[in-house]
This record gives sequence, C-alpha cells and structure tokens, in this order.
Amino acid sequence: MIKKKVVILREIPAVAVELLGKKYQVEINKSGQVLNRAQLYHQVKGASAIISLLTDRIDAAVVQAAGPQLAIVANYAVGFDNIDVKTLRDKNVVVTNTPGGVTEAVAEHSLALTLAVARRVVEADEYVRSGRYKQWEPLLFYGQSLVGKTVGIIGAGRIGSAFGRMIHRALKARILYFDAISNAELERSVGATKVPLSVIMERSDIVSIHICLTPQTKHLIDKTQLAAMKKTAILINTARGPIINENCLIDCLKNKSIFGAALDVYENEPHLIPGTRALHNIVLTPHIGSSTEEARNEMAIMAARNVVAVLSGRAPLNPV
Ligand code: GLV
Ligand code: GLV
Repeated sequence: MIKKKVVILREIPAVAVELLGKKYQVEINKSGQVLNRAQLYHQVKGASAIISLLTDRIDAAVVQAAGPQLAIVANYAVGFDNIDVKTLRDKNVVVTNTPGGVTEAVAEHSLALTLAVARRVVEADEYVRSGRYKQWEPLLFYGQSLVGKTVGIIGAGRIGSAFGRMIHRALKARILYFDAISNAELERSVGATKVPLSVIMERSDIVSIHICLTPQTKHLIDKTQLAAMKKTAILINTARGPIINENCLIDCLKNKSIFGAALDVYENEPHLIPGTRALHNIVLTPHIGSSTEEARNEMAIMAARNVVAVLSGRAPLNPV
C-alpha cells in the first residue's frame, strides 16, 4: 500500500516525525528557509496533510497545487491568520491549530517583556556590556515598579487569562480585560473586571495584547487608543503585529508619551519601522513567545495528532 504523504513546511521538533513516520511518508523542508510560492507548490504536491508554519500563506492556490487528496492543514501555531480558512473549508480541507500547548509559554514571555520594560533590563545590560558602568548612580535606569499596578488585557482567551493569573499572583496586579465575551473564570480567580477598550487604555499601567488578528482587530490600537494611555504606561504585544498601528506606536515612543513598549510581533514582520532601533524605550524580540522546549514539543505533538486523526477518518482534535 502506498503511504499517504505528510509535508512539513519547516523543521519542527522531531517528536512530530516520530508520531507520523511509521504510518506516513513524511517530507520536510529542511532548507532552513521559508519556501517561496513556486517551491511551496512543488513541495505540497500529492500531500494528504500539510503541517504549515505562520510564515506560510495557505490559500486556494496551495490547495490546488497539493491536489484533491489534501485532507488537512495543521498549522504549527495558535494563530491561523496565515490561512484562508473559509476557502479551505469550502474545499473540505480541515484546518487545525495548536492551542493549549503554547498558553503558559506566551504568558511567560509577556511577563518577561513587562518586567524587561518596567525595569529597563535590556538598556541596562547594554550599558554594562559596553563598559559605561563606572559608578553607582542614585537615579540610574529609573524604572516603574509593578506591584499592585493595574493590568489591562486585550483578549481574555487562554493566553490572556494565563497572563492575567500570572501577573496577579506574582505582582498582585489588578486585572481589567476587554473581550467580546465575559470570562467568568478569570473574574472569579483573580477578580478581573470586563471593561470597554477605552477604559483599558486610560486606566492601565500595563496593557498586554492577546487577541487574534482579524480584519476587525487590525489597528485596534491606533493613535486614539495610544493617546489615551498614561505617561507611565507600558504596552506589550505578543499576539500579532498588525493589531497595533506600529507607526503611531513608534511616534508615541519618540515623544515619550508612554513609558515604554515591548514587541514580539511586528506589522511587517521581520521588518522594523525606520527609527525603531534607535529607541531605548522599546524591547524587541523576534516572535519567540512560544519558544520554549516544552511548548514547541507540545505544538509538534498536537499538529501530528491532528494529522493522524484526520487521515484515519476521525474528527480533528483542534479544528479552527
Ligand atoms: C505564534 O505566534 C502562534 O500563533 O503560535
Ligand atoms: C543597592 O545596591 C543598594 O544596596 O541599595
């Protein structure tokens, strides 16, 4: 019997191949590069399943290139804005993601970034590293204390809630959240309050973004929202870049109208807006929110299990 073909569009933790390798013919793009369109069409040809990355745009043309046997696209990510879900659904291709596995890791990274901005860890490191530390200074790298501050969570799903619980327990933060639906568990566990976005922006000392990117959330954080923030406030984004109008954010950091920001995701990833690198009040990381050994292994297992389920004629575990 000819084994069904599973294509993995970049190398992911080996555990995925261990789960898939016996039953299926697994082909992996080992080039270390995101495939261009022509390479992508070539790579997916004949695949029954594709494990895609957030850097791969999966649309009708990719489905067409794969062929009619394509049954599932398992995205190796929680976000799935890289996939034209409606088109795939119309063509009876199941789309899955990897929720759960990344929750605590992304929440941890959001907390790490919050602390890094508040206590100016990256600037201070650079100061010592470059040999400028000559004597103790009473006002050196004056930061913001975080204990007991108000944290505004935009998007209180799994990751937003995990971040809320972490910062509440670690730093006694008061939690406000903005979401279309109420999160009774978060309200009960940490006393969180659901408020409109304008209230989040005006009252929060830390605003952290955990919402999906959709046409409705693009530039949700624009000039008006940024202008409402406190001068001492910190903005963190580990979700998707286009949720913030990055040009407006950079202006606001240049004018020091907020204390600081941290971005793990960018509007035009991996490119930065000119002038970003010169700013000291922003911490920049390269989309590594879920990059822990634990989370990335869990994501690989989830993606592989979704493939096995669908190719065995069962329901997917994490359909989107
Ligand atoms: C990473 O950005 C993810 O969506 O998992
Ligand atoms: C600082 O090092 C202090 O002892 O306060």
